[in-house]
Amino acid sequence: MKVVLAYCSLLVLLLIADVNGQRRPKPTKSTTKKPSVLKKPTLSPPKFEPEPQEPTDFPPPILGPPSIFPDCPKECFCPSSYPNALYCENRNLRKVPIIPFRAHYLYLQNNYIDKVTADSFQNCTELKWINLGNNRIRSVEKQVFEKLPNLLYLYMEKNELKEVPDYLPAGLEQIRLSHNQISRIPNGAFSKMEHLALLDLHHNMITDSSLSKNIFEDLKNLVQLNLAHNTLRKMPANVPISLFQLFLDRNNIEEIPQDYFKNFANLAFVRLNYNQLSDKGLPKMVFNITSLLDLHLSHNKLSNIPMFSSELEQLHLNNNHIERVNGTEICPPHSMHDETGAPKLRYLRLDGNHLSPPVPLDVIMCFRQLHAVVI
Ligand SMILES: *[C@@H]1O[C@H](CO)[C@@H](O)[C@H](O)[C@H]1NC(C)=O
Ligand SMILES: *[C@@H]1O[C@H](CO)[C@@H](O)[C@H](O)[C@H]1NC(C)=O
Ligand SMILES: *[C@@H]1O[C@H](CO)[C@@H](O)[C@H](O)[C@H]1NC(C)=O
Repeated sequence: MKVVLAYCSLLVLLLIADVNGQRRPKPTKSTTKKPSVLKKPTLSPPKFEPEPQEPTDFPPPILGPPSIFPDCPKECFCPSSYPNALYCENRNLRKVPIIPFRAHYLYLQNNYIDKVTADSFQNCTELKWINLGNNRIRSVEKQVFEKLPNLLYLYMEKNELKEVPDYLPAGLEQIRLSHNQISRIPNGAFSKMEHLALLDLHHNMITDSSLSKNIFEDLKNLVQLNLAHNTLRKMPANVPISLFQLFLDRNNIEEIPQDYFKNFANLAFVRLNYNQLSDKGLPKMVFNITSLLDLHLSHNKLSNIPMFSSELEQLHLNNNHIERVNGTEICPPHSMHDETGAPKLRYLRLDGNHLSPPVPLDVIMCFRQLHAVVI
């Protein structure tokens, strides 16, 4: 009887292996928890609207009866129901209007503003959110933002900045500067920013030398750091150990120092797709961190699968140089006694390597919670 049972479960495993061996068209969606920072309200609109056409000489359209607020800039919309909000987005603006004192939320995205000057912001010390995304800003006058002690969110993605604006207020929680041409980050640009949770610098021209050694030093509560799509060759140094998400896709990173991730207690998402990582640059145990849930290493030059902990749920290794998978070797130490002790890997991508189905049996035997393997 025992033999039959064993045979039956083996057959079931073989069938699973067969099913999982089929190419799955789409990755399953992650159900892992998102960082709290993403649950906060975002400045509208979260996605960019289509690029506005060229500026015209027409004044912005009149949006209805005059505002009940006499201080409402004529270019903006000041709804009576949101006395703290100033809507000036998509208005063909080339200059920031004079912002009234009562404004907390300022929407200026999708215009043609090319510089930010101090006079516009002289009297609006209560500002909490500023969205200047998708403009043509090349320069920010020194100390414009410094005078805004209550500023929490500063969004300036999709502009033409060459450097991170200097003298940002220390109370900031979110800074979005993606899609600029930033290659320079002034020393101390993020100093004293103990509440900064999100720093997004993806799609810029940041090199190893743009990042001075202690640039992230004060960011004790940083949750998400996005440096993807830059030209880094090294892993950024002294990255805050509070991080939950670290995005470094599309750089030229060749190696990760041993113990790089050693002190991170919360790090759950690491993305290093499209880099130059090879086995030589990847210490075998570097990703053996128990907090890690989601690891992306696709489009690199790896021939071997790095070790990971039994807590990892998603592993992306597609488009590397992997020729063989030995389930016994990559099986993380775990409790053998029941299903719940099994490694938590649910999704594994191995397509674009030198492998062909079926998924080896020892992989299926180890990773009992696998829902899908793309091979
Ligand atoms: C700044 O705003 C306050 C409060 O509304 C107002 O009394 C003051 O005149 C304003 N100052 C300037 C320079 O606009
Ligand atoms: C990975 O780390 C865990 C705990 O930090 C440790 O127990 C385990 O032995 C490590 N894995 C390997 C293969 O060394
Ligand atoms: C996988 O690795 C283990 C341990 O290193 C070894 O005993 C086994 O023969 C390997 N399996 C294959 C199919 O190479």
